[in-house]
Amino acid sequence: MERGEYGTPEKRRRRRCLIVTVVAVLLLIVIIAIVLGLTLRKNTDTFTSTFTARCEKFEGYDCEKVWGAFEEAYVGRDPCKVPPGAYDPFIAAAPLKPACNRMMFWSKTKDVVHDFTEKKDCFITVEDTLMGNVVDGLTWCGKEGSTETFTTGCPGWTDCENNTVRSFWNRVSTAFADAACGDVSAMLNGSIDTPFHPKSIFASIEMKRFHPSTVKSLNVVLVTQKSTVTNCTNASLKDLQKELAEGIKYSCKEVAETQIQECGSNPDIACGACW
Ligand SMILES: *[C@@H]1O[C@H](CO)[C@@H](O)[C@H](O)[C@H]1NC(C)=O
Ligand SMILES: *[C@@H]1O[C@H](CO)[C@@H](O)[C@H](O)[C@H]1NC(C)=O
Ligand SMILES: *[C@@H]1O[C@H](CO)[C@@H](O)[C@H](O)[C@H]1NC(C)=O
Ligand SMILES: *[C@@H]1O[C@H](CO)[C@@H](O)[C@H](O)[C@H]1NC(C)=O
Repeated sequence: MERGEYGTPEKRRRRRCLIVTVVAVLLLIVIIAIVLGLTLRKNTDTFTSTFTARCEKFEGYDCEKVWGAFEEAYVGRDPCKVPPGAYDPFIAAAPLKPACNRMMFWSKTKDVVHDFTEKKDCFITVEDTLMGNVVDGLTWCGKEGSTETFTTGCPGWTDCENNTVRSFWNRVSTAFADAACGDVSAMLNGSIDTPFHPKSIFASIEMKRFHPSTVKSLNVVLVTQKSTVTNCTNASLKDLQKELAEGIKYSCKEVAETQIQECGSNPDIACGACW
């Protein structure tokens, strides 16, 4: 009896203590979940607003529709199981405007080509079109069972074949190459051993889709630098000519990077006179 009288308030105190602890832990879990949820939401929101802001710089597109079609490709999916075809609705929602004789392809010359196309309104790369511009330089993916867009923890380019980002660029490059018409240009890198590399997007996807009924010629601009190791006689460029569909004319010109930069900065030089 004495023991019971002594033990009861002690037990009660302990029980109260346990309840307080459990409630505190539960509260903490809820707070962490909310903060995490908000962070993820913010992640999605930042990505969405970058996408939308870039989209709105292009006239004549319904950016809400374009975003919806884009998101549909990967949201809620395993980021390694997004095939290029998943972006078909996006391609349909962001159709290319015709740009015959102005289309510029590139491989391993990203900086010099974009510096040039931004400064001078002569050529258009896929990154200058709405479909390439909205996510240029970005990483994104979804996750099974989630409606979020993640910008970290996504698989890299070579981690799996059908990853969100790689499939996107494959699909968009296909669309851009399918639209190629007239005289087409390609800026390739003369400072690497194989300027026309079979694994590149240009060699494996884009060039294969040039069709003689629409493409008149392919004009390679081989960018040379001090560190240049190759020239237009390189065997990989011979392969290019062999692979090019019959009926499409081919030319190759070695052009110094400095010349491209100077021409880009000089508004008095006509497009056709840069090289
Ligand atoms: C990637 O997707 C394509 C098209 O759906 C499919 O044919 C191919 O098997 C996929 N590759 C892998 C490694 O799952
Ligand atoms: C060519 O590739 C090399 C090696 O990746 C790079 O350092 C160089 O800047 C590239 N040249 C051009 C013109 O982009
Ligand atoms: C091109 O490069 C090859 C070897 O890489 C060299 O033998 C040849 O003289 C070069 N041609 C020109 C026109 O510079
Ligand atoms: C030229 O092309 C061939 C075949 O694609 C390659 O193996 C070779 O090393 C290239 N470069 C030079 C500098 O010869």
